[in-house]
Amino acid sequence: MTDIFRHIGKDVKLGEHVQIWNFTYIGDRTEIGDHTKVGSLVHIDYGVKIGNNCKIEGMAYIPPLTIIGNNVFIGPGVIFTNDPFPMSDNMIGVTVENDAIVCAGAMLKAGITVGARSVIGMGAVVVKDVPSDTLVYGNPAREGYPMQQYLEKKKKWDEKTLT
Ligand SMILES: CC(C)(COP(=O)(O)OP(=O)(O)OC[C@H]1O[C@@H](n2cnc3c(N)ncnc32)[C@H](O)[C@@H]1OP(=O)(O)O)[C@@H](O)C(=O)NCCC(=O)NCCS
Repeated sequence: MTDIFRHIGKDVKLGEHVQIWNFTYIGDRTEIGDHTKVGSLVHIDYGVKIGNNCKIEGMAYIPPLTIIGNNVFIGPGVIFTNDPFPMSDNMIGVTVENDAIVCAGAMLKAGITVGARSVIGMGAVVVKDVPSDTLVYGNPAREGYPMQQYLEKKKKWDEKTLT
């Protein structure tokens, strides 16, 4: 289906209550799970799998063979890659496991896996697998401070009342 606001390819499987905002491209045979939200100007290519309850923010680029689990946050402008040595016919996707957070503007090397519940800091260039429950940032991305500290900071932030 193509209208002037977005393209949804052939045989795309959309779960229940999926929200797709304007000017978004979704390639053929891609699957998007229940309650996932896809922001404006997002490019999700063919054959991608995205789980339930994910939030894909505006301008993310998600090429073929990418696999994203459930409850995953993909920040604005995140770039996944699938071709380590362009232009090649050999593509390999990135896998993001459940409950991971990929912050704004991060770039992920073809073929890596981001472990469950891990956090990729904004602007990171991730060139290696990230184990589960690990915070990484920087270029090249390396382990930052301990995940426990991140969770405490987040809890404090969530409890704050901003005026
Ligand atoms: C990972 C993140 C949560 C860390 O934030 P934080 O805990 O407030 O980090 P701090 O500012 O206290 O910095 C702690 C240290 O990590 C470094 N650091 C923090 N974030 C960094 C990043 N993204 N890249 C490189 N270094 C980073 C700081 O330089 C500092 O290093 P130092 O101790 O040597 O001085 C934050 O960078 C981030 O990515 N937030 C999410 C933003 C986002 O995408 N939001 C959703 C869309 S709006």
